[in-house]
Amino acid sequence: MTTQQQPRVQWLSRWGFVLAATGSAVGLGNIWKFPYMTGEHGGGAFVLVYLVCILAVGVPVMMTEIAFGRRGRGSPIDAVRRVVSESGRSSVWSLLGWMAMLCGFMILSFYVVVAGWSFSYLWKMLTGGLAGSGVDDMAAIFVANNENPFNLGFWSTLVTLATMLIVGKGVQAGIEKSVSWMMPGMVIMLLILIGYGVFSGGFGEAWSFLFSFNTGSLSSEGMLAALGHAFFTLSLASGAILTYGSYLPAGASIARTTLGVAVADTLVALMAGLAIFPVIFANGMSPEGGPGLLFMSLPLAFQAMPMGTLFGVLFFIMLSMAALTSSISMVEATVSWLVDNKGITRRTAAWGTGIVLWLVSTLAMLSFNVGADWTLAGKHFFDWLDYLTSRWMMPLGGLGMVLLAGFVLKSETFREELGLAPHWHALWLFMVRYVSPLGILVIFVDALGIARLQFGLHWPWLLGVLVLITLIGELASPRLRRTLAG
Ligand code: PHE
Repeated sequence: MTTQQQPRVQWLSRWGFVLAATGSAVGLGNIWKFPYMTGEHGGGAFVLVYLVCILAVGVPVMMTEIAFGRRGRGSPIDAVRRVVSESGRSSVWSLLGWMAMLCGFMILSFYVVVAGWSFSYLWKMLTGGLAGSGVDDMAAIFVANNENPFNLGFWSTLVTLATMLIVGKGVQAGIEKSVSWMMPGMVIMLLILIGYGVFSGGFGEAWSFLFSFNTGSLSSEGMLAALGHAFFTLSLASGAILTYGSYLPAGASIARTTLGVAVADTLVALMAGLAIFPVIFANGMSPEGGPGLLFMSLPLAFQAMPMGTLFGVLFFIMLSMAALTSSISMVEATVSWLVDNKGITRRTAAWGTGIVLWLVSTLAMLSFNVGADWTLAGKHFFDWLDYLTSRWMMPLGGLGMVLLAGFVLKSETFREELGLAPHWHALWLFMVRYVSPLGILVIFVDALGIARLQFGLHWPWLLGVLVLITLIGELASPRLRRTLAG
């Protein structure tokens, strides 16, 4: 059991938290995944559904996590245990904290490989390694980049080192200081890239690809993707936001900061689309998903344009920074837990975590070369890490958190911590009790392959189910709480 000797370190300002949490949220998910998902699943219609998911599931879960962190003032494991014991509940609930910490670590184990791609393409752009390459060459370069484990390993190791260097320096001198210049820098670069897109000639096409309201292509699959992505993009249930929340000063409003982070994250995702697709369309290419978009089409497109190399370099610097400000948040939970519980310095904790991370991520990296045949149930280690975290651990962790907050813990805890006006508190409670759990259950039903939910994702059905579980929940909850209280 931990007893923290000293008061927990805090962000120097509320902005420190907002920048760090936005840095965590804005990452490869925003720049790589979101723009393509949007174009694919119906443009404006998808954006609308995505916003609903962010508001109905993302924001309430994030508020809950930050409240847990600040109330418990510790790593996810310690914070959850403290908050739960304050309500006199079983410490078994701290398993949620363990799962979150593990989830962050597992995500990072494959994230550093993708971030490594970004760093290596930055290097290629800088040194002219892509100059004069055609479509086939680009594909070959991508394959060659992956094929050599020493090359790919070098780049992911570099990302691991950079991450640990920042985290090892501490919350204020490492994390807060680095995000305070990387985040504004990123936004400026993104704006410059959008400006470039406006003049490149493909802006109109990109705009309509992203925003034209195309309900026809919004399938239940698209809705599911939006829901799942809401978790990943807001860095939920992976220990990141909870741990950052544990450094939040007492006076800061959790609701306001959460909304700020969610809005900033969404804006960056949309802006990324407006930076990437004009360049793609101006070159008459068609948008594609997966690694091909950023690591084949985009470099090719930049190359064909005036001053393209310069803007390409800018793009990959921005992407690398976005990845780095996310990766530091994924290990902070582990490092903070080690520091609080094992009596070691932050530096030792960071390097120790770094070594384990290096081993696991190397295994993930090998999925692209030496271990191309090492599969289990058709998935590589890299894919397993992705699948387990995004399909299972994040939704399960989020579900546990909201149910704990909504039904199990004393209501004063969250009333005090969130400090909302009564009607806003009631709204939050309704969300964490019914709306968010229902949304998360939909992800599970799909992950289990029970049904592609052709009927389940139709609004009338969902609303009906929501009303039903709300009625049952409200009727049963006093009894439920009494039972759980033993
Ligand atoms: N939100 C980050 C992104 O969009 C990923 C992330 C997940 C970061 C979990 C921290 C924790 O890329």
